[in-house]
Amino acid sequence: MASIPPPISCRAYAKINLGLRVTGERTDGYHEICTVFHRIELFDDIVLHASDAITVHTTDPAVPSGEANICHAAALMLRERLDLKTGVRPGVHIEITKRIPVSAGLGGGSADAAAVLRSLPALWGKSLPEDDLRALALGLGSDVPYFMGDDSALGKGRGEILEYFRLDVPFAILLCTPPVQVSTQWAYSRIVPRPPERLDQEDLRSVLLRGISDPLLLCEHLVNDFESPVFLEHPLVRSVKESMMRDGALFASMSGSGSSVYGFFHDTDAARRAAAPLESLNYRTFITPPHFRV
Ligand code: C5P
Repeated sequence: MASIPPPISCRAYAKINLGLRVTGERTDGYHEICTVFHRIELFDDIVLHASDAITVHTTDPAVPSGEANICHAAALMLRERLDLKTGVRPGVHIEITKRIPVSAGLGGGSADAAAVLRSLPALWGKSLPEDDLRALALGLGSDVPYFMGDDSALGKGRGEILEYFRLDVPFAILLCTPPVQVSTQWAYSRIVPRPPERLDQEDLRSVLLRGISDPLLLCEHLVNDFESPVFLEHPLVRSVKESMMRDGALFASMSGSGSSVYGFFHDTDAARRAAAPLESLNYRTFITPPHFRV
């Protein structure tokens, strides 16, 4: 009888968006975007246990366990793609210790799904070409392909046309998620896409590589098109950005379609000082030290 493979543990890191422009509306219901995805030191822990069936359990009651979880869909897609049938129906029990806030612009569910796609083939003693994995990833969501790699990336198209690059952020990053959940679909419905202007000459990646240490340049070039509609609907989110700017942020922005806001600070102590008033309101905060990389 074949022995049971040992469990596989992995981390699913959250992302922030450094700039996010919505540049066009497509005929398939999606929008064209231009953004830079960047990982922060905030992660869900995922453990994959060999099992007969596909089951999912999460520690956060706000995140569904079972079939409604995106990780369930990821495992199912993978099993079908690997064509593992009859007699050998490998399953997996996916245990997710959730830390990444949900519907918060941090790609938490997408990061979890990508972690499953990346690690599950090994548990089943299989492998898949990178291109096949990326196709499965896009089938799960527009942000999932980004999480199949580890570096920062310039993202275009739906977010799946990716150019990875190493970005060293020399600042401490304070992240704050106020008690507001924003539906991505709703946020897109509030946007009037604008074709790129300046981006034509210099893309976000070049701006970041040239100016990551220059907060004035970041303030000028890194725009998140979702801020206007989300700030209008949820003034609380705007107040988080204002609080960070008042308390010493060199640059601050909302991530994705919100509601999380991040700020760049000279060092971890400065980020901690800016976090204090937000924590006193019971908002969740996380600090990523300078030069962090996955
Ligand atoms: O791909 P995902 O499932 O994350 O997208 C959720 C929703 O966000 C889509 O149904 C669509 O309404 C919107 N969306 C979009 N353009 C994108 C990504 C998402 O319009 N590039």
